[in-house]
Amino acid sequence: MPDILKFIDYNKSRYEEELKEFLRIPSISTAPEHKGDIRRCAEWVAEEMKRIGLNNVKVMETAGHPVVYGDRLDAVQDAQTVLFYGHYDVQPVDPLNLWTNPPFEPTIIGDNIYARGSVDDKGQVLMQLKAIEAHLRTSGAMPVNVKVIIEGEEEIGSPNLDKFLEDNKNLLACDTVLISDTPMFGYDQPSLCYGLRGLCYMQVEVTGPNRDLHSGFFGGAVENPINALAMMISKLKDDKGKILIDGFYENVMPISERERTEYKKLPFDQKAFMKDLETDATPGESGYTELERMWARPTLDCNGIWGGFTGEGAKTVLPSKAYAKISMRLVPNQTPDEIAKKFEDFFNKIKPAGVTIKVTDLHGGMPAITPIDSIGMKAATKALAEVFGKEPFLTREGGSIPIVNSFSSILGAPTVLMGFGLPDQNAHSPNEKMNLKNFHRGVKCGALFYQNLV
Ligand code: BES
Ligand code: MN
Ligand code: MN
Repeated sequence: MPDILKFIDYNKSRYEEELKEFLRIPSISTAPEHKGDIRRCAEWVAEEMKRIGLNNVKVMETAGHPVVYGDRLDAVQDAQTVLFYGHYDVQPVDPLNLWTNPPFEPTIIGDNIYARGSVDDKGQVLMQLKAIEAHLRTSGAMPVNVKVIIEGEEEIGSPNLDKFLEDNKNLLACDTVLISDTPMFGYDQPSLCYGLRGLCYMQVEVTGPNRDLHSGFFGGAVENPINALAMMISKLKDDKGKILIDGFYENVMPISERERTEYKKLPFDQKAFMKDLETDATPGESGYTELERMWARPTLDCNGIWGGFTGEGAKTVLPSKAYAKISMRLVPNQTPDEIAKKFEDFFNKIKPAGVTIKVTDLHGGMPAITPIDSIGMKAATKALAEVFGKEPFLTREGGSIPIVNSFSSILGAPTVLMGFGLPDQNAHSPNEKMNLKNFHRGVKCGALFYQNLV
């Protein structure tokens, strides 16, 4: 076995201890009360980058949470330059009562480490830092040039990262971007992802009467904003799962015949999928398979809906207000701005008399497709095959990493999405976990990726 792989095997328990330290910091980017923790986490990442031997490490300010930068640029002349990107921020933890162990007290049970951020994305960030460390500790050098940026706002849509890329074009110039923030198809089945969906996240506020009313006294002559909101939501899709917003599909890139053929070969197990979720159907847009619907077709979902009386027991009230959060996953070549406008226009068109509505665009992210034949994809394919003993599947994913599109449009670099999560690892849910065997395999894949670029 090459020395670098031996080194990685030898250091497994140290990696796990370091991962625990990283996971103990509650770096929830959306929560103002965690601003100090976010800063502490950025500083932890900067210290870790220095420890592993990166140069020029700095915590760089943005209008929001900071980006941590480091590099190692002493490879031989004409070597490739890789930019590794990840995020140190995490999602909120609610509902807290559903966690078996506290979210920021990492706990190893069997092959998994449980904590918020374990798979999304701290585990996968640390695995790539350990891959760089393994090169620097065993040979004293990287086979290629490497730059690293770890940001703190991915989970809120990376609102300041485009500007950061624009302002630091030279600093970040590279041939390939590497990201580990996507799932594998299955525990033993490595995958390379070449497409991500975008996102358009909206909020609708519906106002009926100017105050809450007695539903007996007034009911029958006043529009109820909850009823009106439910009616409007029901008009967003037909019963075949087609979205009815005018012009919604206008810019949708169709799934190619090649993709449809390839996806049909992938062993998607509908029964196992339903069993895992304890549901009895996999409904969605008619005419498309589950994988096509989850990876390459746009969707619309309510994320939350509230208003009126929701306490225990009954209160006869005709409420003044109702609210919904509604998001749409986008595919190339839809854009969040275009879809936000179409969404707002549609709501204004279907709004019944007796209520007013306020539609707010909360945040968005661009969809992305990355080339499947780049030098980076070849290096990653080889690395995964070497470590897992299997060729990776080529997949797309339904989630979003908004900055991938900007790496191509601003830096002109293709991205390689080599991720080590699993579908059952509860990203964004209670009891998030990372499979430690795949963590260690991921360190090896990262190390071999750089080697394979030479
Ligand atoms: N790591 C995920 C993205 C992801 C999830 C890719 C599942 C592939 C499959 C990322 O951290 C994430 O959660 N992104 C958000 C982005 C949003 C806040 C703009 C998402 O997809 O909801
Ligand atoms: Mn992520
Ligand atoms: Mn996430």
